[in-house]
Amino acid sequence: MRIRVLGSAAGGGFPQWNCGCENCRAARTGAPGFRARTQESIAVSGDGESWFLLNASPEIRAQIESFPGLWPRAKRHSPIAGILFSNGDLDHCLGLLSLRESHPLVVHATATMRDGFRQGNVLYRTLERFAGQIDWRVVTLGEEQALGSEATRLRVTAVPIAGNLPLHLKTLRAPSAEDNVGYVIRDERTGGRLAYLSGVAGPSAELERAVEGADVVFFDGTFWTSDELIAAGLGTRRAEDMSHWPISGPGGSLEFLSRLKARRRIFIHVNNTNPILREGGPERAELQRQGIEVAEDGMELEL
Ligand code: MLT
Ligand code: MN
Ligand code: ZN
Repeated sequence: MRIRVLGSAAGGGFPQWNCGCENCRAARTGAPGFRARTQESIAVSGDGESWFLLNASPEIRAQIESFPGLWPRAKRHSPIAGILFSNGDLDHCLGLLSLRESHPLVVHATATMRDGFRQGNVLYRTLERFAGQIDWRVVTLGEEQALGSEATRLRVTAVPIAGNLPLHLKTLRAPSAEDNVGYVIRDERTGGRLAYLSGVAGPSAELERAVEGADVVFFDGTFWTSDELIAAGLGTRRAEDMSHWPISGPGGSLEFLSRLKARRRIFIHVNNTNPILREGGPERAELQRQGIEVAEDGMELEL
């Protein structure tokens, strides 16, 4: 299985357009040790020909152009064989509306995510220009399914992970176990196993099962501390209020990740305020001591 990181930042990207925090200012002025990042998404392929996107970020057009593997091979063609939603947040779904050039698309999502995107959304009509423009493949929690044709030899399981309703659906509907998932993707050819967990509110039995036996784990790296936005004078919400497990300190996600046997453990969906974005900084050194990485746009892995 080939993996390409298309975007590694949380919603807003890095730097974020309306943010003048220390990190964003450093990234904007090209200070050493600060790399700009687009919003979180990765591409996965079993055969190197057809690719599956995990999430469709608002920056999807530039992300596709940034990677030749995703370029058309004919006058009208795309190697993108499917898109998987991990939740209904706009930083994960908005890009679908940008793929509106009359091209059939396969989208894997829970029924809740599909309905949250489609219902009452007049913009969705742009993806209904012909019958079957979007082929929704409803994922069933905990059930392993083929990803694409049998020829890809990839199999995927959606794992329910504690998370949040998307901001735009809050107060409109009740939370459900289908609101936020992680994906475990298994390559039948190599036996390689990827666990993709970009939004994790905290520890759970499902999470333990998802990471069990994984060779590569991508993990929610949104915030270093619980009060990161508050301390920086940028907001009032704690990490927990946004269903993101903070990395540092006792009971933090770094402790959890440091116990895993996976060959690569990589933080992704990193918020622009997070001090791990500073290469050479003390927080980054702490991760390095545990052998834990921070995703960058353009990073590639094979398993
Ligand atoms: C999140 O990751 O918590 C969301 O992207 C927040 C948001 O939608 O602004
Ligand atoms: Mn997000
Ligand atoms: Zn910032």
